[in-house]
Amino acid sequence: MKFFIDSARIEEVRQAVAMGVCDGVTTNPTLVAQTGRPHDEVIRDLLAVVPGPVSLEAVSEDADGLFEEARALSARNPEKVVVKIPMTPAGLVAVRRCVEAGIRTNVTLVFSATQALLAAKAGATYVSPFIGRLDDVSSDGMALIEEILTIYDQYDFDTEVIVASVRHPMHVLRAAMLGADVATIPFGVVLKLFEHPLTDAGIRKFLEDHRRIPQGAPGSGGGSRGLV
Ligand code: G3P
Repeated sequence: MKFFIDSARIEEVRQAVAMGVCDGVTTNPTLVAQTGRPHDEVIRDLLAVVPGPVSLEAVSEDADGLFEEARALSARNPEKVVVKIPMTPAGLVAVRRCVEAGIRTNVTLVFSATQALLAAKAGATYVSPFIGRLDDVSSDGMALIEEILTIYDQYDFDTEVIVASVRHPMHVLRAAMLGADVATIPFGVVLKLFEHPLTDAGIRKFLEDHRRIPQGAPGSGGGSRGLV
């Protein structure tokens, strides 16, 4: 499963890239607004740092506007830019035009399997079901992922499923167990994936024991050993 980082904060993205856990990035207007930085600078920095696809959201409400935005965003870096387009009739008209123009798309704000089916039929590169927001309203977000994967497998659609609106490590685990193509994960949740009390206890014990090992004289062959 690919890990995208669901963030517009360049420092978080840099850290995830350094850890080798950033296959791409997704943004939305809320995430960009949270940085307090101009949109243009955020895009420039993300495109410079991220090794893979960067989803940038178009915000027009009609198909012509969405397609024009898609063209302008994609022109920044046609290899990396994926244009996020909302799940509406106008959105799918824009997706269709993007497919013809060779622009990659990510259909966003998807909350049902039939919406995901429409996005795949229109030729979207990615579809983003928002599972956390479904959980928030007492629906089972992961059940939606299962339905979409079943439908896409059944008909061999090429559209990749991005598990989005991820809120905690169990979402990541279940996405991977279901075979989702991508999970887009807030950086705070990536850090939680590292956590285990037995790892912390094990490191403490190894460090204590390492300090108790007698240190040989330099050159005697009994020098201090680094921890493995
Ligand atoms: O990738 C979609 C995501 O940014 C939405 O997350 O937590 O606002 O529902 P959230």
